Amino acid sequence: METNPPKRKETRKSLRVKVISMGNAEVGKSCIIKRYCEKRFVSKYLATIGIDYGVTKVQVRDREIKVNIFDMAGHPFFYEVRNEFYKDTQGVILVYDVGQKESFDALDTWLAEMKQELGPHGNMENIVFVVCANKIDSTKHRSVDESEGRLWAESRGFLYFETSAQTGEGINEMFQTFYSAIIDLCDNGGKRPPSSMGVGFTKEQADAIRRIRNSKDSWDMLGVKPGATRDEVNKAYRKLAVLLHPDKCVAPGSEDAFKAVVNARTALLKNIK
Ligand code: GTP
Ligand code: MG
Repeated sequence: METNPPKRKETRKSLRVKVISMGNAEVGKSCIIKRYCEKRFVSKYLATIGIDYGVTKVQVRDREIKVNIFDMAGHPFFYEVRNEFYKDTQGVILVYDVGQKESFDALDTWLAEMKQELGPHGNMENIVFVVCANKIDSTKHRSVDESEGRLWAESRGFLYFETSAQTGEGINEMFQTFYSAIIDLCDNGGKRPPSSMGVGFTKEQADAIRRIRNSKDSWDMLGVKPGATRDEVNKAYRKLAVLLHPDKCVAPGSEDAFKAVVNARTALLKNIK
């Protein structure tokens, strides 16, 4: 006798994930979370004391996920409180204030703190990071431009979004993409899927753009000694031009870096016999 197998209803497990926020004090971590969860903005600064914890259910694609959010205090004073919350994290919201260069420069220190707390067996590779360049509404004081922030994030395989907790710009998009990447990570057995690893540009290109951006003069920009010959200047120029030509290089900021290199070469050759 033939029997039909019982019809199984396609139910996908709802996921539970842990997300933490990181970044200097006052950059807007709590406001970003509040904007998304409570759809409101508080302009008065209420420093997070140690850590704030909340649970929220969100629907992303066809999945429901239960997110445990640990919103960390950025102030160094609270290090002892927040250090135990780094482990077992699937996603990190890394925030800086676009008007405050120190908060951008501090991102490396935040990564180092997390790495240290996770210890030698912790794996930072299998965590989804999203970088929020926050407070883009106050453009008057902007000191870190988009390409600089994007380059920092994307060269590490991190997501990057320009956000304003005040106006709400970029917030929903950021969270949807972030949660979506976390689902992909969980579906891939907790490992970052290979598709999300490729950044489309090399470390050499990213390093060159950063070096050009921080160079102190035209010699430095081309990476030659002051007093270099025409040949040396041209050789250095050609190498950088091939590396950074906008047709070949998709790294954020490559176009400006390329233009700067062209201008540096022109300026130097004018004065070399
Ligand atoms: P800690 O908890 O001390 O680590 O700070 P935090 O990063 O959580 O900062 P919080 O969210 O409390 O915001 C700090 C201040 O920045 C508050 O006065 C907010 O109103 C303000 N703020 C946050 N996001 C934005 C934004 O997108 N634009 C503007 N203009 N102000 C913002
Ligand atoms: Mg806070």
